[in-house]
Amino acid sequence: MAARIFVSILKISPKFKKVVWKIIYQFLAAKYQTEDWTFMNYGFQYLNESKKIELKEEDEYNRFFIQLYHFVVSTIELKNKRVLEVGSGRGGGADYIERYFQPLEMFGVDYSRNAIDFCNKVFKDSKVDYKLGDAENLPFENGSLDVVINVESSHCYANATAFFADVNRVLKSGGYFSFADFRDKEPFENLKKELANSGFDLVKSTNISLEVLRALDDFNEEKMERFGKMFGGWLKKPLSEFAGVKGSVMYKDLSSGYTVYYHYILRKK
Ligand SMILES: C[S@@+](CC[C@H](N)C(=O)[O-])C[C@H]1O[C@@H](n2cnc3c(N)ncnc32)[C@H](O)[C@@H]1O
Repeated sequence: MAARIFVSILKISPKFKKVVWKIIYQFLAAKYQTEDWTFMNYGFQYLNESKKIELKEEDEYNRFFIQLYHFVVSTIELKNKRVLEVGSGRGGGADYIERYFQPLEMFGVDYSRNAIDFCNKVFKDSKVDYKLGDAENLPFENGSLDVVINVESSHCYANATAFFADVNRVLKSGGYFSFADFRDKEPFENLKKELANSGFDLVKSTNISLEVLRALDDFNEEKMERFGKMFGGWLKKPLSEFAGVKGSVMYKDLSSGYTVYYHYILRKK
């Protein structure tokens, strides 16, 4: 019930929604300095488990979250490219891409100063350049990047149209924009219209709701155990909702199809 009220409050105004999410992400990065918590997405699990990707031993801990990143980037050439992740959060995704796909340069941008400080501390030896910036006003020159990626972040933005326009601005001609996120039914219809008017060519769109749900299922027990160690008191319930544990609004809405999770690959003309 509380989660549904929270979601309704966020619908009052897009600018208000953006501020509320920023306060939440600032708070989480400041309060939880746990160095092994470096991803904040719902994860992805292949329905056909023979597709399981090869990971180094030290990355197994984050397998489900990494699989979402892998799905988002693996069909795009990143080697020797200038790559940006918008909404890089606690930094694990950009670090994974840098270590496995050999981009020329890898940037991570987030509007939470605390999240950027966290990344610069935890990934101090990484080649990723984490910097403060807003998705709707990216701190990059026109036509300066080959690939922009965006994972489970765009639902927080006040103006997705401004975001798509700015991604288009910073990409080189022929550059790729790969993003994955969820929307409820009606906002998803708006998203499709926004993308159709964004000036990009659509390369591919994939409904990955079942793969995300499968990850929520397969990781649920382990997630609850990690939560038990990290979070206590009154925060446990709202953070469980936030993390999409079984029984949460997110879990139920994805299961019923009211919420869909999509991946898009787009190309600048
Ligand atoms: C659910 S987390 C996902 C983080 C990361 N992509 C991952 O998968 O682990 C969403 C992230 O988007 C960031 N974000 C939200 N709105 C943003 C904006 N307007 N500009 C830049 N980052 C934003 C948040 O601070 C947060 O770190």
